[in-house]
Amino acid sequence: MKKPFERILVSAALPYANGVIHLGHLAGCYLPADIYVRYQRMQKKDILFVGGSDEHGVAITISAEKEKVTPKEIIDRYHALNKEAFERFGMSFDNYSRTSLPIHHETSKEYFLQLLEKGFLVTKEEEQFYDADARMFLPDRYVEGICPNCGYDKARGDQCDNCGKYYNQLELKEPKSLVSGKTPSVKKTKHWYFKLGDFQKKLEAYVDAHAKEWKDNVLQQTRSWLKEGLQDRAVTRDLNWGIPVPLPDAEGKVIYVWLEALLGYISSSKEWAQKIGKPEQWKKYWQSDSTRYVAFLGKDNIVFHAIVFPAELMAVGGYVLPDNIPANEFYNLEGEKFSKSRGHTIDLIDVLKRYPADWFRYTIASNLPENKDTDFYWKDFQARVNNELADILGNFVNRTVTFAWKNFEGKIPPRGKLSALDNAMIEALQKAPKEIGGLLEQFKFKDAALEMMNVARTANKYFNDSEPWKTAKNNPEQCAATLNICLQTVRSLAVLFEPLLPNTSKKIWELMNLNNTVEEEAWNSAGEMKIAEQHQIRQPEILFTKIEDAVIEEELAKLAKNNQRETGAPEKEYVPLKPQVTYDDFAKLDFRTAKIVAAEPVPKSKKLLKLQIDLGFEKRQIVAGIAEKLLPEQLLGKTIIVVANLAPAKLMGVESNGMLLATAADGENFALLTPSKEVEQGIGIK
Ligand code: MF3
Ligand code: ZN
Repeated sequence: MKKPFERILVSAALPYANGVIHLGHLAGCYLPADIYVRYQRMQKKDILFVGGSDEHGVAITISAEKEKVTPKEIIDRYHALNKEAFERFGMSFDNYSRTSLPIHHETSKEYFLQLLEKGFLVTKEEEQFYDADARMFLPDRYVEGICPNCGYDKARGDQCDNCGKYYNQLELKEPKSLVSGKTPSVKKTKHWYFKLGDFQKKLEAYVDAHAKEWKDNVLQQTRSWLKEGLQDRAVTRDLNWGIPVPLPDAEGKVIYVWLEALLGYISSSKEWAQKIGKPEQWKKYWQSDSTRYVAFLGKDNIVFHAIVFPAELMAVGGYVLPDNIPANEFYNLEGEKFSKSRGHTIDLIDVLKRYPADWFRYTIASNLPENKDTDFYWKDFQARVNNELADILGNFVNRTVTFAWKNFEGKIPPRGKLSALDNAMIEALQKAPKEIGGLLEQFKFKDAALEMMNVARTANKYFNDSEPWKTAKNNPEQCAATLNICLQTVRSLAVLFEPLLPNTSKKIWELMNLNNTVEEEAWNSAGEMKIAEQHQIRQPEILFTKIEDAVIEEELAKLAKNNQRETGAPEKEYVPLKPQVTYDDFAKLDFRTAKIVAAEPVPKSKKLLKLQIDLGFEKRQIVAGIAEKLLPEQLLGKTIIVVANLAPAKLMGVESNGMLLATAADGENFALLTPSKEVEQGIGIK
């Protein structure tokens, strides 16, 4: 269904901030979204592109428990890492938000109350799995068992990763608590249910109206859900991490992560509007009939975007629904699924430091899992870079620029009379933006990437067939015309490749010494010959270096080594590094030596010890979480290192004026930091 639209809203699924995204995520969702947005911007469309981190739910709390840190630490760490990974990859979000921000909490609470007011929420008392040891309910992934649908034995409480089925957790066979490892009991608890069933007819009509435009995989999954008949779904959970249910009788309950995460697109847009100083501007995109909304996501998120989200939006009314949901299949690694725990993965930030992002963008785009699962292969990466980026695109740009310097002092020569070959090349250029644009409009990014490179292929052939090295001697006017057209083509290639290879296009643009930036150019200008005669270009510069075999061998060896660790000794878990800080950040902390002069337990606390420390110039009290690791008497008289300018805090009601330094580990690896020899108290550390 095509409707006339004035602006485009694009969202990309919010990754959970409990791990670093990998190439699979980029292929499934983010690269296509970014190509689409960059293209539409060059089409001068009014477009807003939002994303952010999904920071609530059991995915986060389980990760926090595994690492023995707070959920806040987990989300802060991975939000920063994913933001960095996206930036390095060249993602051009207008805003990258977080669902832990107040703006999102408010949006979600308000929304929840609206649903209630409109009568789409009902409460029910139902039985849920309960872990008596841990004294907690076990929502979602806190239980694992056998899928009632396909028999897969690692099915989660809410969903089977193998067959994709969502079910009521009590249907799970042989359930096991992830907290205690035991078989959970069942216990009644009250929850709010969203009347999804009420939207059956409306959703069917919505899907039918878009059926022609949607990809097959998306349509099939959505229709099979609708066919089963929609059930009311619990949209609250017994958890202490998330957005509290904004009602008086709902203590200890939070809004179900999926209900609010989807609203994250709206709050990200609100945050963007605030940042640009026009706080109402988000409405122009979300609450308008003339917006076209495209939601990018991976295939495991289809039902949430094709059914749950539209129903959520219909329920409150006045919002634009997704017009398209171009979800991809999975992108695997060397023939197997990405798996962080098995070491079968590629550290994205690491490789983006070592190779240009455009190399990955091109490799991924050329083999996108648009209709079936595909793989990243290091050897394919090498072949794409060497045989296509370097040998076709790089070669054409380089030989053209070099020739222009050798024969025309780096100036654009006049075009003059045109031969049949010249006209054919000009025609190919004229057709390119429309053809490639048409593919991008239809979300055929893989074909678009191929067609982009085909323009460079055609250009190389044109250069060869025109033999300018000969005409330079025997037909200078023809030689000038050839070079004029080749240089125009270099400019066109920069425009056409911008959505896919933004950094390369920028380099070409600079090489051609052109005004403004390539992103500011109009897409259709790729079909025109815009560079004036006598325009001066810059000295040639190599666009792509080739990847040696040895480099690829090393990457493969690294991967094999990681994989082996799994089969042999368990992989040593290391805590990923926190985001970089500046020296100034560091210098704000005042570390000092101090002597422990008294130590005693904090009453009613298993973990805390109360210490009196002497800094030489003053005595103070600090509280430290080391009671399970050291006895008070083991501490007396020790010289330790403390952060002396930490704001005071109360721990279990006891005042603490600083923090001692120790390794963040248990058992063998626990140690206090102490100076390597006896020194005075109160000495600074640098
Ligand atoms: N965090 C989810 C995932 O990684 C995706 C959430 S998409 C959203 O699978 F729209 F709900 F945010
Ligand atoms: Zn299953």
